[in-house]
Amino acid sequence: MPNISQLNIAVIGAGAIGLKHLEGFSGHPAARLVAVAETSVERGQAAIEAFKVPTLVSDYREILNREDIDIVSIALPNYLHASVALEALEAGKHVVLDKPMATNADDAEKVAALARSKGLHLMVGQNQRFSLKAQTLKQMCLDGKLGDLYYAKATWLRRSGIPRIGSWFTSKQFAGGGCVYDIGIHVLDLALHFLGEFDVASVSGQTFSKFGPRGLGEGEWGKSETNPDQVFDVEDFASAFIRLKSGRALQLEVSWAAHLETRDVNGVQLFGEDGGATSNPLKLFRSDCGEPVVEEPELADPLVNPDRMQHFVDVVLGEAESFVPLDESLKAQRILDMIYKSAATGEEIRLDV
Ligand SMILES: NC(=O)c1ccc[n+]([C@@H]2O[C@H](COP(=O)([O-])OP(=O)(O)OC[C@H]3O[C@@H](n4cnc5c(N)ncnc54)[C@H](O)[C@@H]3O)[C@@H](O)[C@H]2O)c1
Repeated sequence: MPNISQLNIAVIGAGAIGLKHLEGFSGHPAARLVAVAETSVERGQAAIEAFKVPTLVSDYREILNREDIDIVSIALPNYLHASVALEALEAGKHVVLDKPMATNADDAEKVAALARSKGLHLMVGQNQRFSLKAQTLKQMCLDGKLGDLYYAKATWLRRSGIPRIGSWFTSKQFAGGGCVYDIGIHVLDLALHFLGEFDVASVSGQTFSKFGPRGLGEGEWGKSETNPDQVFDVEDFASAFIRLKSGRALQLEVSWAAHLETRDVNGVQLFGEDGGATSNPLKLFRSDCGEPVVEEPELADPLVNPDRMQHFVDVVLGEAESFVPLDESLKAQRILDMIYKSAATGEEIRLDV
């Protein structure tokens, strides 16, 4: 356990989610925000003023060269996640990375391997796991309240939620993928987390790109710059059927844009031998006598700090085990690759180990 009571933190990228990282860290008594790296002077300046951070740099390497910085949090466009994480780990920093871990599983493996070889903490900030509702449901799964879980539906369907058409988000080169990489990974990770199993056997997936290429379906998220010449070459809808090694299965459905009655449906539905549940809203179901019994449970005491950044500080301080084990993030990232491979080949992809 490190013999320290205060950790110096730097955040790289102060766009829409970087501000959330800063907000999270600022609420932890042992976290001292010491620097922000941001290429946009305007966004960087606004961030350091809002969170009273003493230093703003445009080149993140200045941060990595500073010996007094313990934790680097990465809130950059997806294509920079793996390379900046590798540099940060090489410089001896603990790293918390926003999702997705990388733009492909091989790069994610390289980052994980370096963290392990250096003995540094690396966590992908899958924030949906940390919500009080998700932590309550996870506790119920651990307690066996639903019995053996055999199936899950992981859904994030947005009616009109493409984050800035023409930004890095909608470019395969810069984002790695579209809605699957942006929001699908959240509910995929959450479903696997509830099931307690990340070992995939096979994936059959299909992707569609129906709205973005027509300039339709943009949402409100984000501050990313746009380029009118940027081609929209990622999916805005995807569906995948995922078999796990144990025989459990899950269905992932995700859209950035679709003709839907509801604006945004986001959550996991669980099917267990002794009960079913939805994560959002948090409800449990049983149908013992033919009639459904519906329970809306009270939120339980959290298993870990509900703020992922504050949790990571606890992890580095040696006060908590990472709630997002690295191995699970790698396996989830592998599934993303398999979805695209299946969509491209029109075949089910098997992972034979
Ligand atoms: N966990 C979540 O719920 C969640 C939500 C949204 C986004 N994200 C993830 O967070 C990441 C960032 O998303 P965003 O919406 O904040 O994007 P964004 O475009 O708003 O922010 C990215 C920021 O990085 C800055 N930047 C780019 N290159 C840089 C560099 N070399 N050095 C320093 N700064 C640089 C940009 O100027 C921009 O301000 C993405 O990977 C995205 O998937 C996570």
